[in-house]
Amino acid sequence: MDKMRIKGGKTLRGKVSVSGSKNAALPILFSSLLTAEPCVFNRVPTLQDIRTTLKLLSQLGAHVKYSPDQHKVEISAKNITNHEASYDLVRTMRASVVVLGPLLARFGKAKVSLPGGCAIGARPINFHLAALEKMGAQIQLEEGYVVASCERLKGAAITFEFPSVGATENLMMAATLADGETVLENCAKEPEIVDLARALRAMGAQIQGDGTETIRVQGKKSLHGCHYEVMGDRIEAGTYLAAAFITCGTVEVMGLEPEFLEAVLVKFEEAGALISRNKNSIALSSSQPPRGTDITTVPYPGFPTDMQAQFMAIMAVAQGASVITETIFENRFMHVPELIRLGADITIRGKSALIRGTTPLIGAPLMATDLRASASLTLGGLVAEGETLINRIYHLDRGYERMEEKLRQLGAEIERIK
Ligand code: UD1
Repeated sequence: MDKMRIKGGKTLRGKVSVSGSKNAALPILFSSLLTAEPCVFNRVPTLQDIRTTLKLLSQLGAHVKYSPDQHKVEISAKNITNHEASYDLVRTMRASVVVLGPLLARFGKAKVSLPGGCAIGARPINFHLAALEKMGAQIQLEEGYVVASCERLKGAAITFEFPSVGATENLMMAATLADGETVLENCAKEPEIVDLARALRAMGAQIQGDGTETIRVQGKKSLHGCHYEVMGDRIEAGTYLAAAFITCGTVEVMGLEPEFLEAVLVKFEEAGALISRNKNSIALSSSQPPRGTDITTVPYPGFPTDMQAQFMAIMAVAQGASVITETIFENRFMHVPELIRLGADITIRGKSALIRGTTPLIGAPLMATDLRASASLTLGGLVAEGETLINRIYHLDRGYERMEEKLRQLGAEIERIK
């Protein structure tokens, strides 16, 4: 199993390009199931989760041509022969549950494993299932699987209990081939939802209101093939800006619209960083240690839960104290005991963590527990004195493309040990 070795203390400087967004690419790749015509997707990041997605699409019978060096995927879902997403795949990537909507909409049947718990919480899919039932699907739970069927999905008025990203994506895709209009209320407004809607429109879908609370979809009889380029990854961008901040450096991340990261940029500024927002890039510079700053994670456009762990690493070396409150996932402080191993002073009380800034952190062997936690530990390693060795970095490979190379390019002393 690969490990990451980091020698802390280097100030990061330079430019780095962000890859295509993982969380946008996953549902966009699954949307190819909605049409019998070929789809071509560009700027697909080279990541483990993308390989898992393509493996699942192949298992369903889709013809997949993947060119990872060109970040290009061609998918033809003309001959779908299987409608089952197995436990083995879904447990490694719970985002696989978004096959449910497209499979049901186009073929009237789907069998998808329940994802079960994951490191950051229970993460049920009850919102997805209740909404699909409202569209006329019959759903049963059998031996750990969701077994769903329908004649043809029917347009419906659906109000989500919570603006779930996955449920909004699943239902938006399902509605594109339903009979009549579907109105989705209390939708997630994340930029990745807007990117998926754009891809679906490129396939001929009729969708309005993506990026707002209310999304309207007029169902079509069929969709056609498309060429689509995935948006840049805002969380990857935020992570490299965090790396600049924690090392008192200057870094420009290229290839995404600053607006998508606004809630994070505001907090970086509150903590003392200088930010410049350009047309398609963001630069952060900082010449002094960060100041303690509170955050609360909320759905977009608020502070994203996917940047919480990275922000905590910054606060661990800030001047003063900060309170970080996690409201999206119930168990997303797995990085805390590991940051404490570096010498951080953090106390958890329910949904909140009190962080008293401490310097210096001292390098130590650490264990990565989930994707964003791994990024947080990497940031800790970049600022800690001496050597930090991070185990189980396969979590990082699920969501960051060539992270160690990109950080090295910015001046970090970091290497992967095979
Ligand atoms: C997506 C992102 C993930 C991000 C999260 C929140 C992808 C692949 N993943 O995950 O990186 O952290 O959004 O921004 O895009 N919930 C239920 N029932 C449901 C669905 C969700 O109770 O049917 C709960 C979840 O347990 C969680 C909260 O709602 O507590 C938010 O989950 P959701 O927005 O659905 O996140 P994901 O789509 O899983």
